[in-house]
Amino acid sequence: MKQKLRIAVQKSGRLFEDSQRILKDAGISIDNGKEQLKASSQNFPLEVLYLRNGDIPQYLRDGVVDVAIIGENVLIEKGEDIVKGEKLGFSKCRVSLAVPKSFKYNSIQDLNGAKIATSYPNTVKQFLQKSNIEAELHIINGSVEIAPNIGLADAIVDIVSSGSTLFKNNLKEVEVILKSEAVLAISPQISEERQAILEKLQFRLKSVLNART
Ligand code: PRP
Ligand code: MG
Repeated sequence: MKQKLRIAVQKSGRLFEDSQRILKDAGISIDNGKEQLKASSQNFPLEVLYLRNGDIPQYLRDGVVDVAIIGENVLIEKGEDIVKGEKLGFSKCRVSLAVPKSFKYNSIQDLNGAKIATSYPNTVKQFLQKSNIEAELHIINGSVEIAPNIGLADAIVDIVSSGSTLFKNNLKEVEVILKSEAVLAISPQISEERQAILEKLQFRLKSVLNART
């Protein structure tokens, strides 16, 4: 049987639309049925798996998928060992520390002993360690910005894109921990045969990216 490259893309959320678009612009037509969690292309040896963002690093590590379109921030949090390929130029965001507007913030020192709510514990731990700060982490998976308003935390670390979620929750961004965008991530387990298909995909993606600039 002819081999197909297996690519993971976000099932729903911020990367979904742009991921679909870049594949389409690369001339790869995918027949979905978003309801189906797996789809195939008719004109390119590609199989698409629609997955939850946070699960993708593990699938890449295990070789269950060969490549993925994923935010760098997720790789930094959960997939330091995974090969980062092309930057794809969309889903740009920052992972930032924010505090209530009323907080008189001077420097990161102000967070010694504070409670910080986040969905990115590894990223935050590394950042705190580098800054020589000890803080208590509360790990929550969504709606992180609500934490200071309900007395759960003094500060938060989360994704900031337009800044509107921070604004609506009376928070201000005080430190940018990292900047992120969508990238093509590659499994360390990819086979030689699929590597050859990947190179074709990369060639097409590069043409799309060049045409866009
Ligand atoms: C994400 C992220 C921030 C927000 C940032 O949340 O966690 O809360 O978007 O975007 P903005 O700066 O443009 O407002 P999302 O809406 O995806 O929901 P979730 O946190 O509940 O997963
Ligand atoms: Mg959110």
